[in-house]
Amino acid sequence: MTIIDTYIQRHPRSQALFRQAQTLFPSGVTHDGRYVAPFPLYVERCAGAYKWDADGNKLIDYWMGHGALLLGHGHPAIVAAVQRQMERGTHYGAEHELSLQWAHLVKRLVPGIELLRFTASGTEATMMALRLARAFTGKPIVIRFAGHYHGWHDMLAHDTNDASAPAGLYDGVLGSTVVAPTDLDYVEHALRSRTDVAAVILEPTGASYGAVPLPPGFLRDLRELTLRYGVLLICDEIVTGFRVAPGGAQQREGIVADLTTLAKILAGGLPGGAVGGRADILKHLAFGDAEWNQAHKIRHFGTFNAAPLAAAAGTAMLGIVAEEAPGVCAAALGERLISGMNAELRKRDLGGWAVYGDGSIFHIIAGCSVRFPPGELDPTAPPDELKRGGDPRLVQLLRLGMNNHGVDLMRGRSGFVSAVHTMDDIEATIAAFAATLDAIAAEL
Ligand SMILES: Cc1ncc(COP(=O)(O)O)c(C=O)c1O
Repeated sequence: MTIIDTYIQRHPRSQALFRQAQTLFPSGVTHDGRYVAPFPLYVERCAGAYKWDADGNKLIDYWMGHGALLLGHGHPAIVAAVQRQMERGTHYGAEHELSLQWAHLVKRLVPGIELLRFTASGTEATMMALRLARAFTGKPIVIRFAGHYHGWHDMLAHDTNDASAPAGLYDGVLGSTVVAPTDLDYVEHALRSRTDVAAVILEPTGASYGAVPLPPGFLRDLRELTLRYGVLLICDEIVTGFRVAPGGAQQREGIVADLTTLAKILAGGLPGGAVGGRADILKHLAFGDAEWNQAHKIRHFGTFNAAPLAAAAGTAMLGIVAEEAPGVCAAALGERLISGMNAELRKRDLGGWAVYGDGSIFHIIAGCSVRFPPGELDPTAPPDELKRGGDPRLVQLLRLGMNNHGVDLMRGRSGFVSAVHTMDDIEATIAAFAATLDAIAAEL
């Protein structure tokens, strides 16, 4: 039986739910990344490193809450904190002490955070960071890098040099960002030739949490360059924060950005984000006299900013990050997974395939047009292929085939290892990968 036929046979209830979903949601999904033909999996419950789909199949989970669940599903300390908070109230319509504990932990862990504000999502955090940069510098333009994702709001939705606006975006907003390649000479030339640049924003390990890795030393050199030209650096640590090191990529690389955006692990698996950084920049969120409020203050509302449940989950999560550095254990498991999967590629001599990553974050490229030796990613691989994981047909087969073998890869081409995956889970994932490669070979 083909991979797709097996998938359909194993998941009748998911297929039925998807039929219903198509009458409710465009394409039947609530997030573009979950869309897959012939239909996505419907999940009923999760625990630790596992999820169970609507047909009762158990899967080792590598979506891990889109990267939010460094401690796996339902960590007892987080569950207890949220349950405690649930009984006390989900929204006070008031300031509350737990938000202070949460903020103290963020300040303690992330370099350069003197003041912060909580938001309801990562998208809101990067939107706020851009406003802060513009208000502080009085300049309009932000440099961002091709393919780097910072949420889906208008100001950062356009991530290519394509001159036409994507559907739904007003042409007028396109001019407010310059989309640069990850080439410091290009950035330096832009900074030298223009006087209207407020900030540079990036994902500090490369586009899509490292699917397109940055050249070595890029982050440090960019920090030096932005300082030299008096332009703010915004580090989007929404995925990398609290994961690649307790203080994120900045701590690991020994740099301090002017502004940092956070979400995901920050809120312990509940919705939440934050923007933090230099006090003189964050001052633009503070009240002053009438002239300041009119001309310099950024208005900031948001029903769910620092929401008590997110504060409870986030405080429990960051307390564990501060004490136990769970990212270290997750990274060791991730490294074993990457090397084991690459060994399977080598056994089958699959040129143009590789598994690579950054500790607990891994990516797969399947059938790249650059035929590098199996498992040895070539830095000249086209960035758009790296971002989508290679040949879309192979990515689809990999995604469904891994599901058939009890593993749920994020979008079929990436994954987040948590601190509660076990070495047995890793070995089972490598075996599932081997079986899926064989199933793909059988039908090509
Ligand atoms: C680097 C990065 N920035 C921003 C965002 C947007 O965060 P959210 O989905 O919480 O709006 C994401 C989400 O995946 C992200 O990966």
